[in-house]
Amino acid sequence: MNIRVFRTPSDAGIYAASMLERVITSSERPVIGLATGETVIPVYDALVNFVRCGLNVSHVTTINLDEYVGLAPDHPQSYHQFMNQYLFSRIGVRMQSTHLPNGVAPDLVAECERYNEVIRNHPIDMQVLGIGVNGHIGFNEPAHTLITGTHVVNLTPETIAMNARFFSRKDDVPRQAITMGIQSILQAKQIMLLAFGEHKADIIYRALKDGIRTDVPASILQLHKDVTVILDRQSAARLGL
Ligand code: F6R
Repeated sequence: MNIRVFRTPSDAGIYAASMLERVITSSERPVIGLATGETVIPVYDALVNFVRCGLNVSHVTTINLDEYVGLAPDHPQSYHQFMNQYLFSRIGVRMQSTHLPNGVAPDLVAECERYNEVIRNHPIDMQVLGIGVNGHIGFNEPAHTLITGTHVVNLTPETIAMNARFFSRKDDVPRQAITMGIQSILQAKQIMLLAFGEHKADIIYRALKDGIRTDVPASILQLHKDVTVILDRQSAARLGL
């Protein structure tokens, strides 16, 4: 694994965006796997600046990791809205080339199958990942077994508590999500894992330096041959670099 440590999340975001630029400019039909959450905001801000400086993204396909079950795409807290707000509406990507799971599909099993088909048809060149404080990637939560393909997941109490900061009422926080599975993530040609802040230092240590364990899902990334880990000094604090 290639580990890079930056002074600030915004420095790290520029580095991450330049890795994305390399993928975007070196392929006729680049496919980028995207994440939501606080961590990726500096990456999207930097990418938007690159686009304003001339980077063409009109040929890019994007595939997001996850969406809450029960939130329609126009719900303010949905990941569809997050992506529109922080990235899609700010750059020239064609909306029909952006993909997220539909959290209000009438048949969620069929929706997972549809999403697997989207991923099969668009092999991911670069997957962007954040990490939960419990080690989740996408919403692949700590468990005895990790699921390979897209699936509906019951979010852990820890994840629900973390997500509550974005909702005005605790009862509104979704209990389930649809997430891309572990095999789909590992099939991406390149992966970047980002983490910022002191609260991620412990899980970054466990994901990168301990063995591979299903109760730390991100540790499975140790098996992938092209992972870049992008950190700030706080999240890297336990690595002894
Ligand atoms: C979101 C996702 C999650 C987040 C993780 C970190 O699409 O897949 O795995 O990346 O929960 O979230 P933040 O960045 O808000 O700390």
